[in-house]
Amino acid sequence: LWTDVKKPRGYPPGPTWMPVVGNYFWFRQQKLNLGYYHLVWASLSTKYGPVVGLRLGRDCVVTVSGYDAIRDVLLRDEFDGRPDGFFFRLRTFGKRLGVVFTDGPLWQEQRRFCLQHLRKLGLGRRSMEEQIEAEAQDLVVTLQSKCNDGSTPLQLHDAFNVCVLNSLWAMLAGYRFALNDKRLMELLDIVHTSFRMIDASGGLLNQMPFLRFIAPNLSGYNQLLAILNRMWSFLKETISEHRKTFSPDCTRDLIDSFLEEMEVRKKETDSTFNELQLVALCLDLFMAGSETTSNTLGFAMLYMLLYPDIQRCAQDELDNVVGRSRQPCLQDRPRLCYVESVIMEVQRLVSIAPLGIPHRATKDSILMGHFIPEGATVLISIWSLHMDRKHWGDPEVFRPDRFLNEPGGIVQDDWFVPFGFGKRRCLGETLARSSLFLFFSTLLHNFSISVPSGYPTPSPDSYDGITLSPKPFYARLVPRI
Ligand code: HEM
Repeated sequence: LWTDVKKPRGYPPGPTWMPVVGNYFWFRQQKLNLGYYHLVWASLSTKYGPVVGLRLGRDCVVTVSGYDAIRDVLLRDEFDGRPDGFFFRLRTFGKRLGVVFTDGPLWQEQRRFCLQHLRKLGLGRRSMEEQIEAEAQDLVVTLQSKCNDGSTPLQLHDAFNVCVLNSLWAMLAGYRFALNDKRLMELLDIVHTSFRMIDASGGLLNQMPFLRFIAPNLSGYNQLLAILNRMWSFLKETISEHRKTFSPDCTRDLIDSFLEEMEVRKKETDSTFNELQLVALCLDLFMAGSETTSNTLGFAMLYMLLYPDIQRCAQDELDNVVGRSRQPCLQDRPRLCYVESVIMEVQRLVSIAPLGIPHRATKDSILMGHFIPEGATVLISIWSLHMDRKHWGDPEVFRPDRFLNEPGGIVQDDWFVPFGFGKRRCLGETLARSSLFLFFSTLLHNFSISVPSGYPTPSPDSYDGITLSPKPFYARLVPRI
């Protein structure tokens, strides 16, 4: 019973539970003290070990830190579930839909479909690269026109939002947005707000869903619903436009592929291909694809402001390998190891999704000698791997050359897992890695970036949430000739 204060026998160690709320208020207080959810879990793991068990409202929540325990979770099928509950269903019309927060046969079928058709539409192919290269070039032209040869400081923390989404949207919905598209910017803004309102454990609305009746504003219910309503209308409009012009002879994008599959399977009573699932899938991809890559690029720019010498080394490598007469492309990547190491170091130090996306135990299990009850939410601390002192030596230092070997090649490191691993690893990794490389290298190739005079040096501190985001900062961009 979730009102019970007795822990299941063998449950992982952690603080004492209170009736009804469990550790909820204690956890909130810790979050206020430490500022970030992942730091609360880190302090718990220092005290209790790699597997820590809490109860937040009615949810059993277990966090797993360190290499051995994380590998054990991510490589076992019984931890491949996703939490179910009020908050997770709220996003998808009160049902379990989409790909991010589903599991079992629905998830398997939808994930397979998604990957297979995104590949057909260019994922990981030359057409995707060309699309990203064109987006990066478009961004350079826009920034060039705004920066006035370096005399007008520009905000860079959110400069990548639209252009990063465009390469995904081209495959998903067959079109791109103008970089100043007002409606899209508003949507990205509200998605951004929603990411900061929730934490990886599902938050207050999942743990105590009755609060929506007692305190709809305080629990964030009204605000989340308003955000979701706007997202749903936008996606439903996009799908209905597709329906009007859809022809089975010409599949333009993922929405078309899905509509086609719906048609083929319309006689199957248990088909997972229906219109609400399509909206949920688009919502998942929009949300997963927009915040993560653009926030990482925002941080990458911030670190280039903070470390001008590293910026110069990356630019020297770009000039040597690419030259000044053309733009960087993905084929240059194997010879741009320093640039690649800078991106990896940004991803390691920032851990953009520090607790990944929550998993769920689909049956009673034993993990590192502890009992994990069926239904428990299991959080993986990616941050704990990226910041492990024994492994990295000086994890808090920004030092890209930790990813380089003696001849200057890239060192792959099992402790570096920004995209997770196992069956639930990031579905957009290929797109994300190509986007990070092309946007970052194209921007450094075209501009020298510094702190504008009279402006404060930006802080690498981030806003907390399910993904971390850089705080607003200004940069001086001087075109490189
Ligand atoms: C899942 C990271 C970009 C789509 C995930 C997970 C992580 C992650 C840590 C969770 C893995 C787990 O549950 O164990 C990142 C990072 C990105 C990025 C760091 C960029 C720098 C993208 C993009 C897309 C995307 C561009 C768009 C296609 C997804 C989806 C899932 C996911 C759909 C859920 C997969 C599933 O549940 O089966 N990502 N991601 N991600 N990501 Fe990404």
